[in-house]
Amino acid sequence: MSVTRSATLRSLAKINLDLRVLQRREDGYHELRTVFQTISLADVIEVAYTAAKRTRFTIDDDLQIPNNLILRAADSALHAMKVSAEVRFRLKKQIPMGAGLGGGSSNAAAVLLALPVLAGRALPIEHLMELGAALGSDVPFFLDGGTAIGLGRGTEMYALPDIRREPILLLTSGIHVGTAQAYQSLSEKLTSQSVSPKINNFRIYTRTLMATRSAGAASAQSANDFESAVFGLHPQLKRLYDRLRKACAKSVTVRMTGSGSALFVVFESIAERDRVRAVMASGGLNEDARVLSANLVNGSGYRQLWRRQLGAHISSLKKQQPRQRQQWPLQSRYAT
Ligand code: C5P
Repeated sequence: MSVTRSATLRSLAKINLDLRVLQRREDGYHELRTVFQTISLADVIEVAYTAAKRTRFTIDDDLQIPNNLILRAADSALHAMKVSAEVRFRLKKQIPMGAGLGGGSSNAAAVLLALPVLAGRALPIEHLMELGAALGSDVPFFLDGGTAIGLGRGTEMYALPDIRREPILLLTSGIHVGTAQAYQSLSEKLTSQSVSPKINNFRIYTRTLMATRSAGAASAQSANDFESAVFGLHPQLKRLYDRLRKACAKSVTVRMTGSGSALFVVFESIAERDRVRAVMASGGLNEDARVLSANLVNGSGYRQLWRRQLGAHISSLKKQQPRQRQQWPLQSRYAT
């Protein structure tokens, strides 16, 4: 009987600090310019891996999510490594679904990062990126985390240097926005718009973000092209947006993440975030709405988290050369 190797993974959510949709491409996807950012809100995935003659997956998931990306990611990772195993998952979902927070994509990436370490195999990051892109447009981002520019359909990723770990407030509404529907309703307006001002404004945003290393300070230059289309589809979301704006100081920007429906604000101080949180919580929100506090997790924080949660299974940092310590993804101590 083979040994079972287990780990408990925090699978972080993301926000889009900025998101510009340029035009529809021939393959049906839209050309994007976005800045992805991991945040501390997380699902918890317990995984237990046992080498076996025949592959078998089980998942214990309170919400019974159909066609769970965790299983599809596990299947593609095992195929790529040419191993068979019994893999048991337990998912504790905390990231609201259909909210633009990337929960499903993050779960898939967590599985792609963890299984090779538990199995004692190495899959290079380029290979993982390919497997991730086949599962969903946001999956490749979570293989690196931190702050990154996404181009193309969102899968062409360029990591940015660390920014400050600022506090944020999230406002979720229970309104489920279908990604494909959001793109479709936006798409009708895109043909008449020129892309060059969008690219210029995206450049101004990223330049400001890098000059200040503060998403709070840069937020005045940010945009999310989905906002007006999605607010048109869901007027109650626009009302929530207006309420959150009113609760914040004038200089502060409220943004929607992805194609919605979660709204967020990046603050430069915890005290101001907590003040706005109290105003929103006392304001009689409807019962599906939730106000959540979190903070930005930069690239260093993301790697630290992964080193901690796979600590027992990765090769000891002390035995590695300085160059190897920078290696990503993490290397399994069972690798042969
Ligand atoms: O890749 P993912 O499964 O996340 O995409 C869901 C849907 O969102 C796609 O089928 C497509 O309609 C739309 N989409 C798009 N352009 C992108 C990403 C997604 O049109 N860059």
